[in-house]
Amino acid sequence: MLIAGNWKMFKGPAETAAFCLELRRAEVGVADVVVCPPFVSLATAVQLLAGTEIAVAAQNVHWDSEGAFTGEVSPTMLRELGVYGAIVGHSERRQFFGETDETVARRAEAALAAGLSVIACVGETQAEREAGETEEVLRRQMSVLPHDEQLVVAYEPVWAIGTGKTATPQIAQDAHSFIKSLLDAPVLYGGSVKPDNAAELLGQPAVDGALVGGASLEVDSFTAICRAATHL
Ligand code: 13P
Repeated sequence: MLIAGNWKMFKGPAETAAFCLELRRAEVGVADVVVCPPFVSLATAVQLLAGTEIAVAAQNVHWDSEGAFTGEVSPTMLRELGVYGAIVGHSERRQFFGETDETVARRAEAALAAGLSVIACVGETQAEREAGETEEVLRRQMSVLPHDEQLVVAYEPVWAIGTGKTATPQIAQDAHSFIKSLLDAPVLYGGSVKPDNAAELLGQPAVDGALVGGASLEVDSFTAICRAATHL
């Protein structure tokens, strides 16, 4: 069971330091735990979580190791920092920053080749679900992802992200099974995972963990979700 916290654009180095010190002292149970701070806070998180089982991943990564790509960060730079992996293809990047299936694939392949683990996000919008296109969208997004032992997929239905509207356990189970029929990889669920719905979602057979947004920003709620994974 893998529980990853995607902090999005929250927590600079000072808040990251405070969070990591508190997290070190907290009980997280037996789940594999990853935190994904913004780029500027990665070094602090790596330093302060050193010697623990908690890993640190970035929220995005470029495909080249260096070059004229203003604003981007390369896989080798992340490796140099001691970062364990990177999220790619989050729906917020697809929605607001022009990310496409092709660029997601390039990021994933380069990160894996550099020795990073990858959490690749897929998921349909509300309109796509209502139009009965969920499987078509998932098939298209999955078709470009490489087969690799270090690749984890996160199913994040866009309509459930930051909305407080969670997929029902059955919706998650069905989507995860479908994704697994396309690629043999662990699949995390993401979209309004909270301490009070975590056990039910994580209890579905095809759900291998969670990618948590809002509830990962407080140590109490994040560790409650990690502990929920332990009791299954
Ligand atoms: P929320 O948990 O805030 O809905 O965010 C989910 C998400 O986007 C994680 O990557």
